[in-house]
Amino acid sequence: MPALSTIVPRCCAVLVVIAVAMPARADPEAERTRSQLTDDPIVSTWRTLRAIDCARCHGKDYEGLTAPSIIEYARTQSREMFVRRILDGEPSRGMPAYRDNPSIAGRIDDIYRFFLGRADGTIPADPRPAQR
Ligand code: HEC
Repeated sequence: MPALSTIVPRCCAVLVVIAVAMPARADPEAERTRSQLTDDPIVSTWRTLRAIDCARCHGKDYEGLTAPSIIEYARTQSREMFVRRILDGEPSRGMPAYRDNPSIAGRIDDIYRFFLGRADGTIPADPRPAQR
């Protein structure tokens, strides 16, 4: 029978390993909110839209200026219509076509998700995580 002193440390070491391996409990609601606000695809979509400057026609927060609200459009139209309006544009009425612009055409799903989130209130006008 092994001496007690060799058994105890090994058993403690196992307990420590188990404790470290257990995931920390997180409040699922807070976790979801945080992941929404720091969801990188959304933040980088927001940056892309700023760089392309849809706002110069659609207004600072895309709620309408000389061109209509993009948020309202996402709220009321199908995904197909939304995508088509951006990729094909409406050049005769002043809306450029973005099909040949990879930073728009390449992330059209994220763009739709961004405006849907704006429409249902889950994505704020400025989705960047708070500066700490
Ligand atoms: C040069 C000005 C201009 C820019 C820049 C612009 N748009 Fe537009 N957009 C318009 C105009 C004008 C319309 C309305 C066209 C019409 O009356 O059919 C429009 C329409 C739209 C619509 C359909 C809305 C509706 O109610 O018919 C969407 C969606 C849209 N734009 C998205 C975008 C996105 C996303 C960007 C940036 C990637 C962008 N636009 C950049 C001028 C612009």
